[in-house]
This record gives sequence, C-alpha cells and structure tokens, in this order.
Amino acid sequence: MDTIYTSGGEVYHAAVFRILFIGDIVGRPGRRAVREILPVLQEKYEIDFVIANGENSAHGAGHTVKTSNEIFDSGVHAITSGDHLWDNREVIQLLKNEPRFFRPLNYPSGVTGNGAGIVLAPNGIKVGIINLQGRTFMKPLENPFHAGMEAATRLRKEVQVVFVDFHAEATAEKICMGRFLDGHVSAVVGTHTHVQTADESIFPKGTAYLSDAGFTGPHEGVIGREADQAIHRFLTAESKRLEIAARDVRLQGALVDVDETTGKALKIQRISEPVVSFEEQIRRAEAAKESVRVSRIQDLINPTLVF
Ligand SMILES: [Fe+2]
Ligand SMILES: [Fe+2]
Repeated sequence: MDTIYTSGGEVYHAAVFRILFIGDIVGRPGRRAVREILPVLQEKYEIDFVIANGENSAHGAGHTVKTSNEIFDSGVHAITSGDHLWDNREVIQLLKNEPRFFRPLNYPSGVTGNGAGIVLAPNGIKVGIINLQGRTFMKPLENPFHAGMEAATRLRKEVQVVFVDFHAEATAEKICMGRFLDGHVSAVVGTHTHVQTADESIFPKGTAYLSDAGFTGPHEGVIGREADQAIHRFLTAESKRLEIAARDVRLQGALVDVDETTGKALKIQRISEPVVSFEEQIRRAEAAKESVRVSRIQDLINPTLVF
C-alpha cells in the first residue's frame, strides 16, 4: 500500500510492505489464537505477509506436519523455529520437504533444512527470512553473528525485504544482533523468552528491532504452562513435563512496516491481542465494575507507535 509517513518533521512517501510476526505459538490454544485472531488482524491492518515462530506449536514441544499445516492454513506464510526444533521427530519431514519452514541457520553445515531463504508474498514481493539461535545460556551452536551477516548479504542480492527471527535467551545478545545487522536487514525480532519486551524501535540505519515478540497462547500461567506445575518444579527440582495452561489466550507479536523499494523499516508496533475481542472484554469488565481492568484493556487498544 502507498502510505505517507512523518518522521522528525519530514514527510515520507513510501510503498509499504507490512509484515506481521507472531511470537512462539504454544500448543492447541496458541494455534486456536492464530486461527481466530489472524483474520481480524488481517482486516484491521491490511497485512501483506505473516511469519510465525512455531517451536512450541505441537503440545508445547516442537513441530508436527499436522500442526504446521494448520498454522499455514490459518494464513501464515512462513514458520520459524528454535531450541525446541528436535522435540518431535516428525520435524525431519518439514526440514526435508517444506520450503516455508525454517530452522536456526547456525547449526553445523550439513544439518537438514533451511536456516535462510526466500518466500514469495501473495502480492509478489520476495521476502528474505533468516532464523538464528543465540548461544548465551543456550546450546553452543555456530556463531549466529557471522552466519546472520553472511545470509543477509547473500539474500540482499536478490531481495529488499529481509526479516530475522533471533531465537535467544539473553537480551544483550539480541540487542547486539540488532545493532550488528542494522542497515543490512529490515527487522530483527527476538523470540524464545515468551515475554514481550517494550523496546521496539527503528535503529539508525533502518532496521526495526524488538528484543522479544512474546508468545501466542495462554497467558494465565508461566510462559504458557500451568503455573502450579511450573512453581512445583522450582520448589522440588523435579523434572516433569508441564501441561499447557488454558486461560487468557492471546496472540502476541509485532507489526513491521517496510519500504519495499529500499528494505528499510518505517514503523514497528507490538501486538498483544486476546482471543476475546477488546470491546467484549471492556463490556464484561464494566459489568463487573472492574475499572482497573477496563483501563488496562484500553491501554492495549492504543499501542505505542515508534517512528
Ligand atoms: Fe525457545
Ligand atoms: Fe518458545
């Protein structure tokens, strides 16, 4: 779409390519959130392309062909992953056969699957996608900085728009990646912690950045799991599989506007959308005389825009 932007008092006219990135999809509730909320967001924001991190989409642990197809069928154009990549053996079929499925690029050479590539958007724009995994407090893969820059340089010979999902634990490592790739890619958005950060910005050379997109799934729990079970693990050090939580299901992520002719980002906006509409939530909170909750929901309706 053609849009006029103002930045620092200057008027900016651009052909905008709008990307929605969806943070880690957790289990069936997360997949439901994508299915139900994505059409609403499509309508509201006129989104051109959707990328989703799906590393927790198969009952919280990894990917299956069925759950990945469900996500694609909901309107997602590319799926990225992370440290839960190998939790389900079926992932090998996706790595071998699905060009829209990405694993972290910085595995040793020879590992099956793609860590970077190009996916065609419905409007004909080619989108470069790079999936990287951090090394701080995580499994020591190859250096994601060298791998990321090499892939960005290679992709930019063919496309303008390049999106990076940096799946990492440490905020400092993520910010370093954003600064390192500033001007080389359109956006660097972090995943993995499942906690959405409030540091969205456009870096000086035109790369949109957000440390973590948050997660898509049940938020009344501990990063998507039942709270009692997660607390029990800390109290006892027992290692049991944690069940997926159920309530307060939200789709979280970020909207990024990119100038499709230059590849530079124009705007980034956090998304945190509940399965129940905001209007319905406000109606219920008002009926229950929960004024604090009403104002919290109103705050969600008016997210901060950063230019
Ligand atoms: Fe992860
Ligand atoms: Fe995750």
